[in-house]
Amino acid sequence: MLGDLVILRAMDAGDAEALWRWNSDPEVMRWLSDGYPDTREQVRKWLEDRPRNAYDDVLFGIEVRSEGTLIGLVRLHGAKAETGCSELDIYLGEKGFWGRGYATDAMRTACRYGFEKMRLHKIKLTVVTENHAAHHVYRKVGFVEEGRLRQCFRRDGDWYDMFTMGLLEGELR
Ligand SMILES: CC(C)(COP(=O)(O)OP(=O)(O)OC[C@H]1O[C@@H](n2cnc3c(N)ncnc32)[C@H](O)[C@@H]1OP(=O)(O)O)[C@@H](O)C(=O)NCCC(=O)NCCS
Repeated sequence: MLGDLVILRAMDAGDAEALWRWNSDPEVMRWLSDGYPDTREQVRKWLEDRPRNAYDDVLFGIEVRSEGTLIGLVRLHGAKAETGCSELDIYLGEKGFWGRGYATDAMRTACRYGFEKMRLHKIKLTVVTENHAAHHVYRKVGFVEEGRLRQCFRRDGDWYDMFTMGLLEGELR
């Protein structure tokens, strides 16, 4: 799937090293639930064993169009035919590429994929209220806050609230 700045493409076991490195980087994972640590081998096996992309779980690697570098991932998951609603997660693991418009373009491209290809009606996500850059990007492409989840994210001993945000078909900017 082609954006202005990025290409979204399927991921495979060859991406394990990058994914493991991103997931092990505290700065990248600052506002993300990181779960328990995985080894490189476990990440490789997860990528190898996951079923092929399908309606209820689409995982894309984000590549910079001009140079073909893998810089992050975006995932549409949990889609239900009954509601036409899916959740979206995104992160850029390569910090040198932050602040250059890539996440904005990847969001637009992934949402376009969701609405046009998957015929979704709604895409939703959650974001820690303190994650100002991500929140800004989501608002910029058209997501709106639909609720506030109190103290449901914990980092370094402190509790943080999260916004739930949603984007309806026709609202993508
Ligand atoms: C958050 C993240 C996705 C943003 O990616 P990015 O490629 O740097 O985003 P873009 O360059 O497209 O846009 C960043 C925007 O946020 C703005 N921004 C950056 N830091 C900000 C801050 N502290 N407060 C408010 N806005 C901020 C920039 O000015 C820019 O807006 P503009 O285009 O209107 O000028 C990326 O930094 C990331 O993956 N971080 C770690 C993981 C993460 O937090 N993922 C999201 C979890 S919900």
